[in-house]
Amino acid sequence: MNLILLGPPGAGKGTQAQRLEKTRGLIQLSTGDMLRALVKSGSPLGQRADAIMKAGQLVPDDVMVEMISNRIDQPDCKQGFILDGFPRTVVQAEALDTMLSEKGLKLDHVIEMQVDDAALTERIVGRFTCAKCGAGYHDRFKRPAVDGTCDVCGSHEFTRRADDNAETVSKRLVAYHKQTAPILPYYAARGVLKTVDGMADIDEVAQQIEAVLG
Ligand code: AP5
Ligand code: MG
Repeated sequence: MNLILLGPPGAGKGTQAQRLEKTRGLIQLSTGDMLRALVKSGSPLGQRADAIMKAGQLVPDDVMVEMISNRIDQPDCKQGFILDGFPRTVVQAEALDTMLSEKGLKLDHVIEMQVDDAALTERIVGRFTCAKCGAGYHDRFKRPAVDGTCDVCGSHEFTRRADDNAETVSKRLVAYHKQTAPILPYYAARGVLKTVDGMADIDEVAQQIEAVLG
């Protein structure tokens, strides 16, 4: 099964994708995570991406399409994947269709996670991640069971993203409404778009997604 989790910054795409990896054995393909790894590498492309992400803008479509196409070719994706953060423009959505048909693959579900803009900033500025295994947490909504210790791997080191501040979040939201929301009608017209209430708590959203996947 191959699916897209679609929604604004802070909607819970990463949170739910991590759960689906465990419950369904699917592979999370987060273009944001891939870009952050590229930034860490310090390559010229990574430096370019770093500046764009810190400005809350989108990395060029050709870079993203090549990145995701190469990743989908990796053998682990044969067990099914969750696109988290891709596609983000109509150009990317069209390129994805072409790429999947060339690879003999198809999309089973596109799930839109609807969350009010007002809730997103609080979610994003409170977010932190285990520096070792990448498990996601929140100061208020998802604390580790033992403060300062990762539930998954026991590490005591956590990180916060460079673009998770109120100023950059407002720019990321503008980019979402202007460049990404137009792909919703693209998928609605193909009859694959389902919507879940991303305002519900994390377990409830997971149940709604399970209901869509069947
Ligand atoms: P990316 O990393 O994809 O960021 P994003 O889309 O802005 O989404 P986030 O990761 O911020 O949110 P999320 O939906 O994953 O929420 P999460 O589950 O963490 O992209 C970053 C940047 O990279 C972009 O701005 C762009 O520059 C670039 N980029 C990436 N892909 C690109 C592409 N395809 N094209 C061009 N550029 C690209 O949840 C947030 C917090 O809320 C967490 O702390 C979580 O614990 C909490 N939470 C989750 N669900 C709930 C809930 N139901 N109730 C309460 N709290 C919740
Ligand atoms: Mg994410």
